Amino acid sequence: QVFTLADYKPTDFILERIDLTFELHPLETKVTARSLFHRRPGAATDAPLILDGDELVMTSLLLDGIELARDRYEETGRHLVIDGLPEEIAFEITVETMLAPANNTQLMGLYRSNGVYCTQCEAEGFRRITYAYDRPDALGVYTVHIIADKATCPVMLSNGNCIGKAGYGEGKHFASWFDPHPKPSYLFALVAGDLGVVEDTFTTMSGREVALKIYVEHGKEPRAAYAMDALKRSMHWDEEVFGREYDLDIFMIVAVSDFNMGAMENKGLNIFNDKYVLADPETATDADFANIEAIIAHEYFHNWTGNRITCRDWFQLCLKEGLTVYRDHEFSADQRSRAVKRITEVRHLKSEQFPEDAGPLAHPVRPTRYKEINNFYTSTVYEKGSEVTRMIATILGRETFKQGMDLYFERHDGKAATIEDFVKCFEDVSERDLGQFSRWYHQAGTPLVSVSTEYDADQQEFSVSLEQIVPPTPGQARKEPMHIPLKFGLILPNGNEAELDGVTGGDVTEDVLHLTERSQTFTFTNIPARPVLSLNRGFSAPINVDYTLTTEDLTQIAVHDRDLFARWQALNSLALPELTGAVKALRKGDAPTFNPAFIAALLAAAADEDLEPAFRAQALALPSESDLAREIGANNDPDANLVARLSLLNAIGLTGRKIFANLFETMSSSAPFKPDAASAGKRALRNTALTYLSFADNDPTLARETFDKADNMTDLSHALTVLAHHYPDSAETAEALEAFAKRFEGNPLVLDKWFAIQATTPGPDALDRVKSLMESPRFNAGNPNRVRALIGTFAFSNLSGFARADGAGFAFLADQVLDIDTRNPQLASRLLTSMRSWRMLEPQRAEYAKRALAKIDSSASLSVDVRDIAERMLQDA
Ligand code: ARG
Ligand code: ZN
Repeated sequence: QVFTLADYKPTDFILERIDLTFELHPLETKVTARSLFHRRPGAATDAPLILDGDELVMTSLLLDGIELARDRYEETGRHLVIDGLPEEIAFEITVETMLAPANNTQLMGLYRSNGVYCTQCEAEGFRRITYAYDRPDALGVYTVHIIADKATCPVMLSNGNCIGKAGYGEGKHFASWFDPHPKPSYLFALVAGDLGVVEDTFTTMSGREVALKIYVEHGKEPRAAYAMDALKRSMHWDEEVFGREYDLDIFMIVAVSDFNMGAMENKGLNIFNDKYVLADPETATDADFANIEAIIAHEYFHNWTGNRITCRDWFQLCLKEGLTVYRDHEFSADQRSRAVKRITEVRHLKSEQFPEDAGPLAHPVRPTRYKEINNFYTSTVYEKGSEVTRMIATILGRETFKQGMDLYFERHDGKAATIEDFVKCFEDVSERDLGQFSRWYHQAGTPLVSVSTEYDADQQEFSVSLEQIVPPTPGQARKEPMHIPLKFGLILPNGNEAELDGVTGGDVTEDVLHLTERSQTFTFTNIPARPVLSLNRGFSAPINVDYTLTTEDLTQIAVHDRDLFARWQALNSLALPELTGAVKALRKGDAPTFNPAFIAALLAAAADEDLEPAFRAQALALPSESDLAREIGANNDPDANLVARLSLLNAIGLTGRKIFANLFETMSSSAPFKPDAASAGKRALRNTALTYLSFADNDPTLARETFDKADNMTDLSHALTVLAHHYPDSAETAEALEAFAKRFEGNPLVLDKWFAIQATTPGPDALDRVKSLMESPRFNAGNPNRVRALIGTFAFSNLSGFARADGAGFAFLADQVLDIDTRNPQLASRLLTSMRSWRMLEPQRAEYAKRALAKIDSSASLSVDVRDIAERMLQDA
């Protein structure tokens, strides 16, 4: 079945309130749902009530407390259809269902994780609990009663405020929760189990005290301290920057160990993958701390962008996700180094979203059709959606953007809205027509902007010619020109920025050039000398740029640009041709050679003490193998890409040996661990230096010493990675791996790192390594984090190992996907997206990839999730 945006229709009935009673039991949970409805004014008087359901066992159905006659309703498998309902008065439907949460391996609806009852309802999990209007535009007021064993479930939680708790017969007790804010079913949540809690309070800007509680497994309480701190900072920031105050007396977070995604913003009761809650220096890396801060903020920010204002339908997913990612990006930028944060965002966007947008799974930020909505929780909806929001802020300017947000909160509070509603708010406050801009929501594909420049010394004029192409994507052969806001600057030979005097040929507002035509030439007057154009500063638009600058010009940007992001971007642009050149040489059978001027520029940045260490570490992290593959575009040989990259790392390591030895010393610290950005930056630079030194020396001793001395997980896991990736067969590595596993045997999140490090050791042996790790008693095929750590990391991040020349990696993934699909379709379909770039491979590998996909596609018993991905991946192939 295909769902389309054009088919949207409001429900025939309006849900007012819903009362849920759960009598919890691992195999026989009884759910009683009493809902009050009335017919929507204007709806047909004979329209039946059609509620959604999925794999439900209904044991009773009442209308206004009286059992409904068998001929008044029908269960179709996906729906409950009730006829003959009142025309004008409200009525109450009571549905009783029986669930077996312990057997729910899909992790959608009510399930058990490590003995804890929990729920995941977004997008369509509520229909696995009871028959309901399981769609985001049906907002109701929820009251929830939970009855459970006192012994196994001392903690019983749901949305809103607790309104009562007492004993309930032999060995049992109950708790009742009331949420005054009307909400759609996807924001419902329930948790019950034996959990520890960390408590704090937050006083809101209007002086209300909010109780904050983070629930974790017993014994893990100390590892929730950082998450609590991040939560308080998030609450404060949303007040300061967006004027948003929290709206209940209590805010709860629960960490569970089995979770399909990162986390979920259920009203007042966020449920998290414990990977994004638990952290301490011994077990979490700096990246883990940064992720926790970002995701805690993200889910909290959803309280306004998602919960108070929700989506009319799932086509509008980016309304809450793109906007909330933008908000969490801004939060992290304010908490950390803005430039470095922007660099990591763009790296992520390019390595995840750009490949998606360039392959068979490409879709618009606001799609118009889907078969399975779970397959649209993508980096296009999230990350590109965030970039689109960022562009609105760039075009309108900070102040007007803020006014638009205020209007959005005011106009749509308590409602289910659309992207058009959102954009309209910004049009109204700015009096700008954002019609052309809105194509960013509707046209898929990463625009390519080609740039050429010309300086006329006599006229003192500098002209910039731009041409945009939006490539064809599935279902969208032809595209209209986009409004692309490009931050820019003109850097004069002396390193200063040229003053902008006059411009013709297009719209320029302050430091933003607005490209709106297919091709357009902007001419700047009164430019005293030939400048270097620094374009797309801060990555103001999510595009590819084709702009051939000389090494001298790029170096000018790398050294002088006042925008740090642009300096990083210039170094990156210098690195790419080195890598593609090396690939060409290798595939001809020649040895690669590198431009000493590039290596010199990179080393100059590495040694530049005016630059913050985190920035220098980012500069030294070359474009990834996947960046390189995209740059090459077609006919990729991942082995050649790997060797090219290793050769360049090696050349940099040898030339810069002294600099790296020096950095390794000066960036070390004897102070106690602190997770702040500045300290993390030093660790990052020191660890980068360790990587380059191990390339230069080809000796595991230093990595092994670092491993033995490390007093935090960042350094420890990095040293282990260097050992495992560079010296996979050395005794030092084998010992270190064993020591690491023994030390962290009882800590699943750390063992996940142990699996991931080994899954990314490059080369053709990787597959056998992964297969033998799956046989290890430490592997656990039922836990999504563990599956992602081993199989997911292998398929997404080990390009040479996964795309092995004989196709064995693809065949392996196909078998895994088919197996996992029988238990957890969402996990399976997500793993399968690791093949999204298969068409960029050389013909032989591509053929093997296609066969693996065809094998999946020909299986008779696929989930809708996996079938949808496999079909799209094979379309027109
Ligand atoms: N709304 C959640 C977040 O981004 C993601 C939940 C997605 N879950 C799913 N099963 N599709 O914060
Ligand atoms: Zn979200």
